[in-house]
Amino acid sequence: MMPSSAEMESRDKTKRVFSGVQPSGSLHIGNYLGAIGRFSLFQEGYDCFYSVVDLHAITVPQDPVELRRRTVATAALFIAAGLDPRKTCIFVQSDNPSHAELAWVLQCVSTFGELGRMTQFKDKARGKKSVTAGLFTYPVLMAADILLYDTDVVPVGEDQKQHVELARDLAERFNKRFGVTFKVPEPLIPKQGGRIMSLIDPQKKMSKSDEDPDSRIEVLDPPEEIARKFRKAVTDSGREILYDPERKPAVSNLMTIYSLFSGKTLEEVRDAYEGKGYGAFKSDLAEVVSEKLRPVREKYSELISSGEIEKILKDGAERAYVISSSKMREVKEKVGLSSRLSF
Ligand code: TYM
Repeated sequence: MMPSSAEMESRDKTKRVFSGVQPSGSLHIGNYLGAIGRFSLFQEGYDCFYSVVDLHAITVPQDPVELRRRTVATAALFIAAGLDPRKTCIFVQSDNPSHAELAWVLQCVSTFGELGRMTQFKDKARGKKSVTAGLFTYPVLMAADILLYDTDVVPVGEDQKQHVELARDLAERFNKRFGVTFKVPEPLIPKQGGRIMSLIDPQKKMSKSDEDPDSRIEVLDPPEEIARKFRKAVTDSGREILYDPERKPAVSNLMTIYSLFSGKTLEEVRDAYEGKGYGAFKSDLAEVVSEKLRPVREKYSELISSGEIEKILKDGAERAYVISSSKMREVKEKVGLSSRLSF
């Protein structure tokens, strides 16, 4: 989980990091390894903005009470996973009107064709009788999130790469048409852990929206539940613990999880379980994951009962708005929109 030497070298407080997580379900270890567990790696060296992107969550139906609860829970998990609100800006997307405002302007420079090519949209829309226009334009809102803050680096899992590339394209197109306004951001995807797979079907990524809750380990799952889900996780034919994503996709996924949570290399994991079979491996894996997540669970419960999150989110939204509203003023000026009431 340590940043690579390239990441270390490029540490520079004048550089910005932005990332977002939808409060659309309980966060799982894929979200943790691909994103939130990495967020705190940047907070010493970069100017960081992390948002709970609730406007993205309403592109599919949400229960309003549950959405509000999950929004606060997601922010609490950011902090429980290591973010320090004194060093980073943590805020809720819908508290800052600039996001929806810039998304509209960017929709007017995006094309129907490029949005139709987004693989996540195609996956989510497949088989549905009706999908919202919001689901279609979702990546443009994500581009707005990133571009509002002159973001240099966007730490995300592999599934968001195409969306960050769209943000880059839109920044370049806008800059060309209206004059240089936006920084062109870079995605930062971990080499290992950028795509954690389902425990039930290793061809599918682990996902909050999978109908089978046993396909994912949630960050807040109690240890017994973690052990039960790993016991139930599918394995491949043969008994060897070998890293071979082609021939042994299920075991390779479990080895990746083990390696990232324990800090051991894949070779060390393989050597430690030579001749031991799946049972011992799965039981140790459950122990390693549970122990690593213990402080996260404890800090989360503390935060949720303290009521501190409200103040953190209010301060975060105010800080984010200072930056984003100034960018919006510049955008309106360039595009020829009115800004009489801007301040
Ligand atoms: P979301 O909420 O689906 O996921 C949050 C983060 O978790 C990563 N992730 C994974 N990483 C590894 N393995 C997995 N199985 C896995 N599943 C999810 C995601 O890549 C993501 O980094 N559109 C974004 C949210 C967003 C955003 C942004 C991100 C909105 N605006 C601006 C960055 C910058 C999403 O739906 O992530």
